Amino acid sequence: MTAPTPAAPRRQIFVTTALPYANGTFHIGHIMEYIQADIWVRAHRMCGHAVNFVGADDAHGAPIMIAAEKMGKTPEQFVADIAAGRKQYLDGFHIEFDNWHSTHSAENTALAQEIYLDLKKAGLIERRTIEQFFDPAKGMFLPDRFIKGECPNCHARDQYGDNCEACAAVYAPTDLINPYSALSGAKPELRQSEHCFFRLSDPRCVAFLEQWTQEEGRLQSDVANKVREWIAPDENGKPRMGDWDISRDAPYFGIEIPDAPGKYFYVWLDAPVGYLASLKNLLTRRGQDFDAYMAQPDLEQYHFIGKDIITFHTLFWPAMLKFSGRKAPDNIFVHGFLTVNNGQKMSKSRGTGLDPLKYLQLGMNAEWLRYYLAAKLSARNEDVDFAAEDFMQRVNSDLIGKYVNIASRAAGFIHKRFDGRLGEIAPDGDQLLDLLRAARQTLVGLYAEREFGKLVREIMALADRVNEYVDQNKPWELARQDNMQARLHDVCSTCIEAFRILTIYLGPILPRVAKAVEDFLHTSLGRFDAVDQPLGKGARIGQYQHLMQRVETAQLDKLFEAPAPNQTAAPANAAALCGEALAPTIGVDDFAKIDLRIARIVDCQRVEGSAKLLRLSLDAGETDASGAPRLRNVFSGIASAYQPEALKGKLTVLVANLAPRKMKFGVSEGMVLAASGDDKTEGGGIHILELGAGAKAGMRVR
Ligand code: MSP
Ligand code: ZN
Repeated sequence: MTAPTPAAPRRQIFVTTALPYANGTFHIGHIMEYIQADIWVRAHRMCGHAVNFVGADDAHGAPIMIAAEKMGKTPEQFVADIAAGRKQYLDGFHIEFDNWHSTHSAENTALAQEIYLDLKKAGLIERRTIEQFFDPAKGMFLPDRFIKGECPNCHARDQYGDNCEACAAVYAPTDLINPYSALSGAKPELRQSEHCFFRLSDPRCVAFLEQWTQEEGRLQSDVANKVREWIAPDENGKPRMGDWDISRDAPYFGIEIPDAPGKYFYVWLDAPVGYLASLKNLLTRRGQDFDAYMAQPDLEQYHFIGKDIITFHTLFWPAMLKFSGRKAPDNIFVHGFLTVNNGQKMSKSRGTGLDPLKYLQLGMNAEWLRYYLAAKLSARNEDVDFAAEDFMQRVNSDLIGKYVNIASRAAGFIHKRFDGRLGEIAPDGDQLLDLLRAARQTLVGLYAEREFGKLVREIMALADRVNEYVDQNKPWELARQDNMQARLHDVCSTCIEAFRILTIYLGPILPRVAKAVEDFLHTSLGRFDAVDQPLGKGARIGQYQHLMQRVETAQLDKLFEAPAPNQTAAPANAAALCGEALAPTIGVDDFAKIDLRIARIVDCQRVEGSAKLLRLSLDAGETDASGAPRLRNVFSGIASAYQPEALKGKLTVLVANLAPRKMKFGVSEGMVLAASGDDKTEGGGIHILELGAGAKAGMRVR
């Protein structure tokens, strides 16, 4: 990365981060990705290049459709509500996207359809009839992760349709034993459906991807190696890369396929197109022409992504662009995963991870996190661990101890003794500053290569040199000697100039601090070439205001404190009853779907191997074909609150039309109603619903 000079023109760069699924708020892994990209983008802007940096929500797909339904919302409303919460995170961590859009947008519909039709014209789309599981109760084809059953390999129950969590076997949903729909519990049926495939196995695609992915200097070497294995032909010389199924049947929340009514693009087809849609939305709002922008021969395009979505970005997406007559990306920058406090896997349930919003709400400084993550990131896709003690140490000792303190050590004297004006720089000071100035090219190069950890180490080594200079010259001692005032002025002016240069170098990582230093020094620090434009003798500087507080242990304790039970992410304005947020409103029709019946507890037993469950035999007034009473078997998680004997003979309420659920101990055919609260509070624990005598087993409850 070189600063543009008349010889090195201003580069045009288009940058994105991966588009987060719109079914949840941001987690700290997303924030890490955005901080990495934001630092890179800011560094390029500080070189004078023109960057458009965009993001968007990835709104489509079956999981989002199903999650919305569960919340009693339309998918549109559901994703709009998630989108409304994005800004506070982005602003809070100083992540400066030029635009945030959505894949559920007019631009994306048009672009995805165009790209599809162009691929079709190129002869790369094929229709094929496939067999797929269909949920007769829900009336829809089931995505793999919504089919469960017994693992064909190790016979573990309740395993997903694509792989077994118990033995890690990989298989097709049709291999599962006793498959059932995770949505309705119904037994899925195999049905035929016509799907559209993108013919990635076409020799043109294979040849292009071999060349594009393996080109010297393109992908990170570990990424390129992995990708090579996916593309390489198998032992029989056949392409290993299969064709890609890009269509889904209605009902699906997505973009309709133009020449296949009732069929939709699989979410991963339109998701990366969302990069272009967000850019187009931005350019159109600015009155710029999207097609002209994209047609610039020297436009560079980069995507920052995590290591879990490499295939989509190094195979499918470049091929989609190339064979629809567009330009493939220039590069894909892959990062590892963020783990918290020693590799603990991140959990979506709050408390175990690091909740970025809680971080901000506790008043913790966003630039601490930006600095810390920068210090840990490299250009390799290795995982990064957020370790609380390490975080505190690096921020307090390095960032504040070494860098921020330079200014506080020098500025007071300039202000009190020299009327806020800088003096000369003595030859020894100039030597120090030369060293700092000489680092510019190296540091700018490290930004460009995303070697942020190395970069931070280099900058801190420079800060060490400045602190050595301060310690050698001891301004606090010079200040006590009348004949040393000129020297004091020199030394402090050198420190301020050194601090100015270090601030420029740290600018992409610490944009707020850089802004505050601009105000303090009455100067602009927005370009790396400002390194060579010292303030000079006589320049007036402002009064030093402390730039950054230290991290305190109490803040970190609070950050990782588990949230109180029931404090799940409820909208702030929702009613909370007994400490739990009111569920979204439903209509009477929704309620009528639940068939509640009076049931007599005929028998109740402990379940061997489970401390939580009791096995209930319930009479809900049902009979079998021969007219004999049929008892329901229901497992209920109430063993902590009831002795089995105490429940026998009681009348309670059964959810009679709940889909049967396979459990480790057998099938549960419904659920009994119980109230539950926090065990530790009075009236907490579990209370099963009981009815007075007189009600009859089988009566409906409305
Ligand atoms: N919607 C897809 C991406 C579509 S891009 C056209 C998706 N969404 S995601 O929300 O699951 O992930 C978004 C990004 O966050 C991905 O780059 C993913 O790798 C990254 N991360 C998710 N968890 C992460 C960590 N724990 N750490 C760092 N990044 C992680 O995938
Ligand atoms: Zn298994």
